[in-house]
Amino acid sequence: MSVQPGSAITRRRLTPSAIQALKGERPIVSLTAYTTPIARLLDPHVDFLLVGDSLGMVLYGMDSTLGVTLEMMIAHGQAVMRGTSVSCVVVDMPFGSYQESREQAFRNAARILKETGCSAIKLEGGAEMAETVDFLSSRGIPVLGHVGLMPQLVNTTGGYRSLGRTEREAAKIRRDAKAIDDAGAFAIVVEGTVEPLAREITASLRAPTIGIGASPACDGQILVSDDMLGLFNDFKPRFVKHFAELAPQISAAAEAYAAEVKARSFPGPEHTFTVKS
Ligand code: KIV
Repeated sequence: MSVQPGSAITRRRLTPSAIQALKGERPIVSLTAYTTPIARLLDPHVDFLLVGDSLGMVLYGMDSTLGVTLEMMIAHGQAVMRGTSVSCVVVDMPFGSYQESREQAFRNAARILKETGCSAIKLEGGAEMAETVDFLSSRGIPVLGHVGLMPQLVNTTGGYRSLGRTEREAAKIRRDAKAIDDAGAFAIVVEGTVEPLAREITASLRAPTIGIGASPACDGQILVSDDMLGLFNDFKPRFVKHFAELAPQISAAAEAYAAEVKARSFPGPEHTFTVKS
């Protein structure tokens, strides 16, 4: 808390290091956000909002996240920053914007921070990205890691399925998580990973883990907001819980609107402007 001159007490925006310090204190709450009005509604209830590259699929109807560009991430990052004042905003680095070299990653991550005003970036990757995570975090760019199921690797890993069932897969996820932790990530998303492994990794790392399709024992949880709001009738994987059912409500509202327009009962007198005589 801080007292601003001439104002009531205001809450400061949470920092990546404050989020890291929540490990062992209380569960970390996170959701995705892509637009100003949704960010405004979620801001008071979360510790951090992720402008995820899932926006390619959720907002733009793409088949995967691979087509998302840096410009799209920056535009949506700016939109989310405009709608938030207390949560930490993290912007995803899209496919192709960081894998080539640590210098490419720094250049594009710095652009995201400068042009959006967000506090941190997220990138997917395990041991092979550890050098990049270290390079960024030691040069002033807080990094949220992302291990386990990595949607940007869908073409080489064979699709969206939970991982860690075989000892070989489990060993790789353990190695990846430790490498990103050692490299200095302030927190690490663990996605689509069998429960006991996510639990074990959480207990072994310095950084908090943020689970999605992982374990209640993770240090925090994240969901795609549109999923948990029930905006998709045709997509409900096991790890998603609908905390609202907005899809049928939106359909019903559109149906009611169409009926009133056709019946000329909307707009009513209360919705039209009259000329005073
Ligand atoms: O892009 C995204 O929304 C994500 C979260 C699901 C973790 O990476």
